Amino acid sequence: MTQIHNGQAIAITSGKGGVGKTNLSVNLALSLCKQGKKVALFDGDLALANAYIMMGLSPKQTLVDALQADLPLSSIITEGPQGLKLISGGSGLNELMNISAKTRHRIISSFRELQAENDYLIVDTAAGIDDNVLDFVYACNRVLVVVVGEPAAFIDAYACVKVLSQSGRVNHFDIVVNRARDEAHGRDVFKRFKGIVDRFLTANLYHVATVPEDEKLLVGVNNCQPPVLSAPKSKAAKAFDGLATLLTGPNATPVNEDAAAFFTKESAPQQGALQ
Ligand SMILES: Nc1ncnc2c1ncn2[C@@H]1O[C@H](COP(=O)(O)OP(=O)(O)O)[C@@H](O)[C@H]1O
Ligand SMILES: [Mg+2]
Repeated sequence: MTQIHNGQAIAITSGKGGVGKTNLSVNLALSLCKQGKKVALFDGDLALANAYIMMGLSPKQTLVDALQADLPLSSIITEGPQGLKLISGGSGLNELMNISAKTRHRIISSFRELQAENDYLIVDTAAGIDDNVLDFVYACNRVLVVVVGEPAAFIDAYACVKVLSQSGRVNHFDIVVNRARDEAHGRDVFKRFKGIVDRFLTANLYHVATVPEDEKLLVGVNNCQPPVLSAPKSKAAKAFDGLATLLTGPNATPVNEDAAAFFTKESAPQQGALQ
């Protein structure tokens, strides 16, 4: 019998690398766990997976094992803090460097199980806007775009919103301004970004969080301790917690409803199996 997927899949993307996607993914996931939600985190930066490092975990099994042994993603889970379930890629593994579209779609079809079993599935993506990234984003119902207030990051985030919105599959974008000096700076960055998008694209942008530049986050990265757990009173942790509260509450921004349509476009893969 087909499983009904009741959880929400949230993609974290940005175009540019090094802007804070993985930190956001890990901290948001843990923050949702702290609120009692069942959460899985899929590290979609397949060959340069690093979410596990940020939590000081050592995955015994990775996506490679699932692909080789034809296992569902739910069987290669690494248990993280607060009951978080991590599905990790590898680091520098050939098997994950150039996966075929078919393999990627098998992986994505296995998302459904994780969605069904959890309240939230967080999908951290790699840098760039190639098919690897886009297909993972299309498979999610909510898209968070990380923007920082520097020209290169702006341009890459714009390119990301452009490709996604022009596909016709994503029209709501939750914008997280990272590394802001303060709330006012965050609002200004969002306003400038929205100004550019509104001039050229048809997309709904929502400013869902401003994450400040925070020394505690850097310390956390160096000690493999996410600030939402190790420094819950820090400015960054409060921003992540606030975002989790917004997304789970009555004022949550709209989601893109037709993510499930992704699957109807693919040749129906075997339930659960990856290859
Ligand atoms: N809010 C922040 N305050 C301070 N440093 C940050 C912040 N966000 C990101 N960084 C720094 O940027 C680095 C890259 O973040 P990461 O989440 O790995 O980016 P991405 O996944 O987009 O490549 C972090 O390791 C940290 O050093
Ligand atoms: Mg990353």
